[in-house]
Amino acid sequence: MKIDSISIKSTVFLAPMAGYTNSPFRQICKEKGAGFVFTEFVSSEGIIRESQKTFEYLQFIESERPIGIQLFGHNPESMAEAARIIEDRYKPDVIDLNFGCSVRKVVKKNAGAALLKDIGLLESVAQSVVKAVKTPVTAKIRSGWNHHQSIVAIEVAQILENAGVKALTIHPRTASDGYRNTADWNMIAEIKNMLSIPVIGNGDIKVPEDALRMKESTGCDAVMIGRAAIGNPWIFEQVNHLFEGNTNYHEPDLSVKLDMCIQHITREKQYADDDHVNRIMKKYYRHYIHGFPNASEIRNHLVNSKSLDDTVSALQEIRNHILNYPTQIIHVKDIFKKITSFRGKSFS
Ligand SMILES: Cc1cc2nc3c(=O)[nH]c(=O)nc-3n(C[C@H](O)[C@H](O)[C@H](O)COP(=O)(O)O)c2cc1C
Repeated sequence: MKIDSISIKSTVFLAPMAGYTNSPFRQICKEKGAGFVFTEFVSSEGIIRESQKTFEYLQFIESERPIGIQLFGHNPESMAEAARIIEDRYKPDVIDLNFGCSVRKVVKKNAGAALLKDIGLLESVAQSVVKAVKTPVTAKIRSGWNHHQSIVAIEVAQILENAGVKALTIHPRTASDGYRNTADWNMIAEIKNMLSIPVIGNGDIKVPEDALRMKESTGCDAVMIGRAAIGNPWIFEQVNHLFEGNTNYHEPDLSVKLDMCIQHITREKQYADDDHVNRIMKKYYRHYIHGFPNASEIRNHLVNSKSLDDTVSALQEIRNHILNYPTQIIHVKDIFKKITSFRGKSFS
């Protein structure tokens, strides 16, 4: 598959997700077979103001390529200016325009999915960014603002292609749906039939088979996975396996999941201090330990840990226990007690 002149090896992409898709997580997903990754969205105003926090979101390493930096905003000139700065400083493979975010703080500024209510302005934003940069510009949309205008995506998709956008991702829920109801995959098929640029389908891929079903039923050029990849980067290799025509795929065993969780912590530590990494990782634990016999007990201990070193020790202990005594029950309390007394720290 190609977006403009960029060759993409795998047609399963990692979705942009604020609070999750930072460089360490993207690196892991890439290594597990994601064909394309995106930063979380950054605001045009933050870029222009040279906000250091905003710039931190944009750091990536070469092995993450191809990568898209996602931009949101509502002012055509500011969006163009921010895109120029991004191109100049970061040289991403694509600049992706966010016309899908339904979070209040974004839509109240008339950005993200709010632009689906003002198609004229949306068109100006897209035209202005496309004109400002040499980097291919892509876009991500929802199906509309609410159910009264849920087919606005059909009109918007054509407008974006005409504006020079090189690929379009569609998450076929309205902004007012949030994450309620199911994504309307028929809309992905309809848009794919209409456009000549690549169309990326997104929404409700929960297991690898869903990705295959989406691709086959809609004809989309690639699928994009968000929530199902959190703490589960294996989904990319599993989907690739199905896309290659295999009927089965490998499920990681519990010790492999713990190894990955430890690896994730180690990578995060290269970018942030322990307190920050502790906060980031608390969102991932329940996903990494999904399927464990006493998952909720383990998770409770992990999220209450005040020390990242203790957390890593506990994960290592549990992993060793699983490898050495695969059929024995895990006495979670004993494992954690051992570590806390060893470290002289307390878990609440
Ligand atoms: C925590 C979270 C943060 C998100 N942040 C972004 C974002 O920054 N930009 C964006 O376009 N979509 C964002 N999304 C939407 C996802 O990219 C995706 O469209 C949505 O989750 C549906 O796909 P899924 O069913 O595979 O999760 C976010 C979703 C979640 C759950």
